[in-house]
Amino acid sequence: MEGSHGETGKALRGKAKQLYATDDPEILWVEYKNTATAGDGEKKEDFTGKGRLNNLITTIIFDLLKKRGIDSHLVKRVNATGQLVRKVNMFPLEIVLRNVAAGHFCSRLGVEEGLPLKEPVLEYFLKNDDLHDPFVNDDDLVALGVCTREDLAEIAPLARKINEALIEIFAKIDVKLVDFKIEMGRASDGTLLLADEITPDSCRLWDQRDHSGKVEHLDKDLFRRGLGSIIPAYEEIEERLAELAKSEGIEVAE
Ligand SMILES: Nc1ncnc2c1ncn2[C@@H]1O[C@H](COP(=O)(O)OP(=O)(O)OP(=O)(O)O)[C@@H](O)[C@H]1O
Ligand SMILES: [Mg+2]
Repeated sequence: MEGSHGETGKALRGKAKQLYATDDPEILWVEYKNTATAGDGEKKEDFTGKGRLNNLITTIIFDLLKKRGIDSHLVKRVNATGQLVRKVNMFPLEIVLRNVAAGHFCSRLGVEEGLPLKEPVLEYFLKNDDLHDPFVNDDDLVALGVCTREDLAEIAPLARKINEALIEIFAKIDVKLVDFKIEMGRASDGTLLLADEITPDSCRLWDQRDHSGKVEHLDKDLFRRGLGSIIPAYEEIEERLAELAKSEGIEVAE
């Protein structure tokens, strides 16, 4: 299996990644692509090196979380753009955690971007392209049978725990974790696992080393707002995370 995802492997095509079956039914091969999309896929561009950087970043973050007692689907990174993960039965949910007001939160509630939130906000969006991933609450999800109360009673505390760990991780590299999106699923033994990715595509990351007074984005908002290439920012995040991981004794790919 190593070194190849097999030409016959069934592919699940996403916008930023491609998933392939392997000869182990419990394991998937994830290929990170160079494509960046925004606005429901309306805006789309390829950035050379993005797939490699996101594969590295997500691997380091999942390793840092593992050290903090939070398991993920990651088995291992296998090459520049590929990793092996445990196949999970995904909840069709975008689980969003917010620490500072930005994005939809601002447009929906009429508040200024950058407003610090008194408590982290947990939001769910149903993954449905036709409906443009609508905002939903716990009752909606239970009523529709997307998940049970018991699922939510596990998902919510895990999401909040991941937020606390990520706030601490990013603070150590002088980055403010404004908000992020995660996905979760259940492995075949029923374990709830953090899956998909955690990268600058799925987080809002504001540099705290910049002293100009204006927000220095180290994430996909650079692309959303047409502020130039995302690559230098993604490289900066990768380098800082790699340094942190090494200081914690985690092996990091060059
Ligand atoms: N461990 C896993 N097991 C099964 N599916 C997974 C796992 N990790 C991620 N996925 C799914 O693989 C797909 C990854 O592709 P990608 O993120 O590029 O999709 P996308 O274009 O963003 O579409 P989506 O709206 O589904 O996220 C997603 O649908 C994601 O939910
Ligand atoms: Mg996705």
